Amino acid sequence: MAKRAFVTGITGQDGSYLAEFLLDKGYEVHGVIRRASTFNTHRIDHLYVDPHVPGARLFLHYGDLMDGARLATLLSAIRPDEVYHLAAQSHVRVSFDEPEYTAETTAFGTLRLLEAIRRIGLDCRFYQASSSEMFGASPLPQSETTPFHPRSPYGSAKVFAFWSACNYREAYGQFVVNGILFNHESPRRGETFVTRKITRAVARIRAGLDRYLYLGNIDVVRDWGYAPEYIEGMWRMLQADAPDDYVLATGTGYSVREFLALAFDHVGLDWERYVRFDDRYVRPAEIDALVGDATKARTSLGWEPQIRTPELVNLMVDADISALESGERHWIDRPALPGWSTAPS
Ligand code: NAP
Ligand code: GDD
Repeated sequence: MAKRAFVTGITGQDGSYLAEFLLDKGYEVHGVIRRASTFNTHRIDHLYVDPHVPGARLFLHYGDLMDGARLATLLSAIRPDEVYHLAAQSHVRVSFDEPEYTAETTAFGTLRLLEAIRRIGLDCRFYQASSSEMFGASPLPQSETTPFHPRSPYGSAKVFAFWSACNYREAYGQFVVNGILFNHESPRRGETFVTRKITRAVARIRAGLDRYLYLGNIDVVRDWGYAPEYIEGMWRMLQADAPDDYVLATGTGYSVREFLALAFDHVGLDWERYVRFDDRYVRPAEIDALVGDATKARTSLGWEPQIRTPELVNLMVDADISALESGERHWIDRPALPGWSTAPS
C-alpha cells in the first residue's frame, strides 16, 4: 500500500517541492488549497493529473486553516499516514500589519489540526513547520537548545504552534515533530521575500525593464539554504524512530548587502547604482542575525545541505533571467539531488 500524505500549504514554495518529493517516493498526496477567485495552483500545476485517470496520486481539496471543522472532515475521510503542516501566513512584515489574522492561521491553525487528529483518534505522524524566526534576538548560532525570543507577531505565533506541537506529543503521545527551519529559498520563492525580490529585480534591471530596487534594512544577516534540500529534511524527521525537534540550516550567515553584491555581480552590474532605501520595508522590530547549528539533524538524520548561499544566488538569478526571457516560469527547476528523479511522473 502506498503511504498517504496530507499536505497543508501545498501551493506554497515548500509545499510544491514536497509534493514532488513525495510523489517521487510513491506516496498518494492530498493537498489543501484555498478557494480564491483566481488560480493559485501555479506551483503545482505541472504535477496535476486528472483524478479520474487511473493511477492519479495527487488530490486537491478546498480548505482553510480558519475552518477547523473542514480540516477535521478532510482528515477523517483521507486518514493520512503523515501530515505535513506547512500552511501559514508566512510573511514577517505582513504579520505586523495583520497580527490577529497571523495568530489565527499560523498559531491556532496548528492547534486546530492537532486537536482534530486527537479527536478523530487518527494514528498519523505530524510535521510542524516551525521557524528560526522564533529565536529572534537570541545569540548565534541558534540550535534546538537556544531560548526563543520572537520579534514579530509571526514569530510569536510560531512559538505558540511549536509549544502546542510539543504539548500534543507529551500529553497524548502523538508522533509530532518540529522542524525549526532557517530561511530556505528557490526560484519558487514568493516575490516579496527579500531573496526573490532581489534576484527578480536583477533580471529586470539587466533587461532594462526596471531602474531601481527599493529595499529596507540591508545590514541584517540570514542563513539562506536551498528549499528542496530542506524538504528532504522534513521527510527524514517523520521517518525517524521517535518524534523530536530539529534545526535545519546551512550554518553560514550572509547579510542582505552581501546577497545583493553576489546577485548583481553574477550579471556584471554594480548593485550600489540600482538599490534605493524605502522605509516601507523596515520592520517595527528586526532580527539582526539568524545563523543555525544543524549538528543534531546531521548526526541523527544524516541531513546535510550541499548548496550554500553563493550557489543559491546564482541559480535564482539564472532562473529569473530565463523566466523573463522565455516569458514563463519553469517549475521543474531543481537540479537533481541524491534520491530524486529529475521530473515527477
Ligand atoms: P509560502 O510560500 O508563503 O506558502 C504558504 C502556504 O500556506 C501557501 O500554500 C498558502 O496558500 C497557504 N496558506 C496561507 N494561509 C492559509 C490559510 N488561511 N489556509 C490554508 N492555507 C493557507 O511559505 P513557504 O516558504 O512554503 O513556507 C512553508 C511553511 O514553512 C510556512 O509555515 C512558513 O511559515 C514555514 N517556514 C518557512 C521558511 C522559509 O524560509 N521558507 C522557514 C521557516 C519556516 P496560498 O498559495 O493560497 O496563499
Ligand atoms: N521581504 C523583505 N523586503 N525583506 C527585506 C527588504 C524588503 O524589501 N529589505 C530588507 N529586508 C530584510 C528584512 O527586514 C529581513 O531582515 C530580511 O531582509 C529577510 O526578510 P524576508 O525575506 O522577508 O524573510 P524573513 O527572514 O523575514 O522570514 C522568512 O524566513 C523565516 C525563517 O527565518 C520567511 O520565510 C518566514 O516565513 C520564515 O519563518
